[in-house]
Amino acid sequence: MRRQLFVALAVFFLAPAAFAGVSGTAHDLSSGSGPNPTYRATNVNQICVFCHTPHAASPAVPLWNHSLSAEGAYTMYSSSTMDSTAWDFAGGTAVSNLCMSCHDGTVAVGVLVNDPGGVAPDNSTAADRITGVANLGTDLSNDHPVNMTYDAALVAADGELVAVGSLPGTIQLFNGTVQCASCHDPHNNANVPFLVMANTASALCLSCHVK
Ligand code: HEC
Ligand code: HEC
Ligand code: HEC
Ligand code: HEC
Repeated sequence: MRRQLFVALAVFFLAPAAFAGVSGTAHDLSSGSGPNPTYRATNVNQICVFCHTPHAASPAVPLWNHSLSAEGAYTMYSSSTMDSTAWDFAGGTAVSNLCMSCHDGTVAVGVLVNDPGGVAPDNSTAADRITGVANLGTDLSNDHPVNMTYDAALVAADGELVAVGSLPGTIQLFNGTVQCASCHDPHNNANVPFLVMANTASALCLSCHVK
């Protein structure tokens, strides 16, 4: 009985880790619980506002609130063995544009569509933008390709990709394309760094690649 109670309590207390939210992660830019003094706001104690707004969002989906990058062209990965094309997505509204609105290093984390009132840090100095390894820059030729269509034709042409219908539920395609958020969940850092699943024994890679 006591043992069952212990197990029940342990499950209860351990469970939240699996559903860890944005709060306290590198994506928490709030003045209240943001972990990183370099990026957290000095004057806005909200968490979602740096990426979402309930009204007048741009782009509308997913109620986006971070000013998009004005970058006109990204250099994409290419190789002689690629069967798909990693289409440049600069200037668009694909999910990867949402990520790159902070991660191409050209827009500060606090530049918002609907600013709740003078968010700092703004874009006034380069130090307000992401620097270091999390700044992917605008040359993505050395990064895993994104924005390519993952469909039956590609699976047939490649011969070593998992069939679209057999992808695990944790892997999402967006309008049939691979995006940053196919591999990353910006809301959950339980699998560092914000991965949709643990990459132990390359499980993430092997969800799509038959190798
Ligand atoms: C650092 C940026 C960022 C923060 C902070 C953030 N989100 Fe998101 N959110 C995104 C991106 C990017 C997407 C689209 C990609 C996806 O669906 O994972 C998204 C999608 C969503 C979606 C639609 C798809 C889904 O996963 O259900 C909801 C709902 C959502 N966010 C709610 C929230 C809430 C509530 C908060 C605050 C607790 C929050 N987000 C904080 C970036 C963020
Ligand atoms: C509002 C700005 C913002 C948006 C939008 C955003 N991020 Fe981030 N992200 C950050 C900041 C700030 C950090 C912390 C960088 C650091 O510590 O150097 C971070 C950290 C990360 C990290 C961890 C890096 C590390 O070194 O541990 C990953 C992975 C990541 N983001 C992926 C994404 C992806 C994928 C998206 C889109 C689905 C996204 N982010 C959208 C601001 C953002
Ligand atoms: C095919 C899966 C995949 C895609 C697509 C992908 N990532 Fe990642 N990303 C990873 C993995 C796995 C890691 C962890 C690598 C490591 O620890 O060395 C990572 C690491 C990162 C980091 C941490 C810094 C670094 O370089 O290690 C950032 C920031 C990041 N990704 C952002 C993005 C953004 C933004 C996009 C879209 C342009 C993206 N990722 C697309 C799988 C992916
Ligand atoms: C969401 C599905 C998905 C995931 C997860 C994924 N990939 Fe990919 N990857 C693709 C697709 C689709 C291509 C494009 C294949 C093509 O066009 O031939 C690709 C391309 C590549 C390429 C370039 C192939 C070439 O012909 O030049 C490499 C290398 C690669 N992935 C490695 C990885 C690694 C390593 C991981 C894990 C960190 C990973 N991938 C995770 C879907 C994925």
